Amino acid sequence: MKIDEIANIILHGGVAAFPTETVYGLGALAFNQDAVKKIFDLKGRPSDNPLIVHISETEELQQFADHIPDPALSLAEHFWPGPLTLIVKKKPEVPDVVTGGLDTVAVRIPGHPLALKLIRKTGPIVAPSANKSGRPSPTRASHVHEDFGDDFPVLDGGETDIGLESTVLDVTSEPYTILRPGKLEPEELQDACGIPVVYSKTEQGGPVKSPGLKYSHYKPKANVHWLSDFVQPGDKHVMYVTHSGAAIPSGKNVIHYSFEHDFAALAKNLYDLFRLADQKNISEIVLEDLPDESGHPLVAALKNRIDKAIG
Ligand code: TXA
Ligand code: MG
Repeated sequence: MKIDEIANIILHGGVAAFPTETVYGLGALAFNQDAVKKIFDLKGRPSDNPLIVHISETEELQQFADHIPDPALSLAEHFWPGPLTLIVKKKPEVPDVVTGGLDTVAVRIPGHPLALKLIRKTGPIVAPSANKSGRPSPTRASHVHEDFGDDFPVLDGGETDIGLESTVLDVTSEPYTILRPGKLEPEELQDACGIPVVYSKTEQGGPVKSPGLKYSHYKPKANVHWLSDFVQPGDKHVMYVTHSGAAIPSGKNVIHYSFEHDFAALAKNLYDLFRLADQKNISEIVLEDLPDESGHPLVAALKNRIDKAIG
């Protein structure tokens, strides 16, 4: 569909999908509660899992954020448009349906020309990943059609660039906390704002600060395993995904994708491989373990998504 048609659907209170630099999103007007509710219904998303507001100019942050600390503004200036979501104290006007009743709101400016063009036409929109709840996020228009049908309105921008969702950073207290790892790492965030940035400990227990973390995510139908934990069963169809040239067992029921030390390509293709495995009736997906000290910005995000797909 053309961008004006997509914008019209959204402006009339409907829901339509569009590409970002991370994954495809399902857009609806941020201040239209009925439109926002449609997103929860369509996705089958629990109502206490809040949405990210997508804006096209940093100034629009004022409509949503009650108080923006200066270092957080530096992050916005430095990384927007780009794969960084900031969690800030919300203004009372922000509908509860957007924030799942929290007193904070998530906001980002996506780094994709079509997304920016669309949001300039519609104004601020909420946009979760454009998948049914629990399914892998869509990195192609065809993935959105897989989950929502052939007739679902999608602005096709081809394959998304990064392939994993944005880094979600809570800037409401110090140190700033990464609630969801993405392409942007603690060091570069810290350098840009001068405030210590740490990964959230919530996954080791404690209160859940990002409601999305308690739900299962990113799951294909196939079982997912790390290579070090996997013993090949006799006749099962297995997809192996490696990155270091590791040798894998051969056999007629085995397919192998190899990403020769290219973690960016692995991130870009991970969800597509999950969906491909399901189409090919593969029952086991086996991923080569990722190095602890790779120095590559996407490895922490990859580990997080794969662990969730396993868990
Ligand atoms: O890359 C992305 O961020 C994509 C594209 C479409 O922009 N969007 C995306 O949205 O991944 P979604 O809804 O699939 O994931 C949003 C995550 C969830 O884990 C949610 O719990 C968390 O952000 N979140 C949203 N608002 C929050 C808040 N106020 N406090 C803490 N976590 C929040
Ligand atoms: Mg999602």
